Amino acid sequence: MEQRIILSKNLNGDLATAISECEHDRLFVLADTTTAQTCWTRIVDYRCLKDAQLITIGATDAHKSLETLSAVWKALGDGGATRHSCLINLGGGMVTDLGGFAASTFKRGIDFINIPTTLLAMVDASVGGKTGINFNGLKNEIGAFCESRFVILDTMFLQTLDEPNIRSGYAEMLKHGLIHDKQMWAKLINFDLQRPNLQQLGHLVADSVEVKERLVAEDPTEQGIRKALNLGHTFGHAFESWALQQGRPILHGYAVAYGLVCELYLSAVKAKFPMDRMRQTISFIKEHYGQLAFGCNDYEMLIQLMRHDKKNTADVINFTLLRNIGDIQINQTASEEEICEALDFYRDGL
Ligand code: GLY
Repeated sequence: MEQRIILSKNLNGDLATAISECEHDRLFVLADTTTAQTCWTRIVDYRCLKDAQLITIGATDAHKSLETLSAVWKALGDGGATRHSCLINLGGGMVTDLGGFAASTFKRGIDFINIPTTLLAMVDASVGGKTGINFNGLKNEIGAFCESRFVILDTMFLQTLDEPNIRSGYAEMLKHGLIHDKQMWAKLINFDLQRPNLQQLGHLVADSVEVKERLVAEDPTEQGIRKALNLGHTFGHAFESWALQQGRPILHGYAVAYGLVCELYLSAVKAKFPMDRMRQTISFIKEHYGQLAFGCNDYEMLIQLMRHDKKNTADVINFTLLRNIGDIQINQTASEEEICEALDFYRDGL
């Protein structure tokens, strides 16, 4: 069944409609310890939620585990969930990914609704049906494509976020601008991310979700053009895993921003991406995301991490590159030498 995305101005009414269109002999809400406090409290009095049972899990990626998944299955079972029940995932990407996977596997699948509460989840994680958990030390190692019946976006939840989480989500929006068109990209790099106006940000969120929605509709299981969304992520995932190994975890969007720097460099060198646009984008990233500190003795580990990425094989490391803004080249490869050059470029600055 097709996923419906609602840009809501009236969460109470839109949620009531969504719930009425889903099977729901029993209704459950999944939140983490943070969103249970900051978001659930904003909606708990909605009439449509009066019989909902709240399931709370630990916050942060450390809890995106088999143990938590099993606890959610158990809470559903103990709460009397049947195959006609419905789960509402209220939270960031961790909650929508894990909750989506729990719902899609419980009694072979129950309806679920995503209410993303972080910017990252609004523009990326909650849309497009990628669900799953981390396993065996690897991010999103176990999972399935399974779309929620509804994604309901209400930008009031942006008020609950701290500055790093706004910036983290914004990196994915910047990626959407780069793969979409010059107008959107220009709006994004001219936005005042230092002092974000949440109403204006809400308009940019709507544009961003549309980009993702269109690519997912064209290629739901990432056989082709959906790979455009991987721009910045080959280096980005390696930076994220490397930082975690160093005991200095970074937010996903920061890793993607650093990855965009390297992959725009590769785009300029291998696909003639215009230098001035590369420089403008990189200046924006440096100004708002700072610099990840690593040395040339870390290159081998970073390359090894790229090889372990789901998108790659032992022999080939894949990239999405750009010939220009909106001019996408999927299934590109780079040699180890080129990857090291991109890492040198990252460390040397502009
Ligand atoms: N996060 C990229 C995708 O959903 O394909």
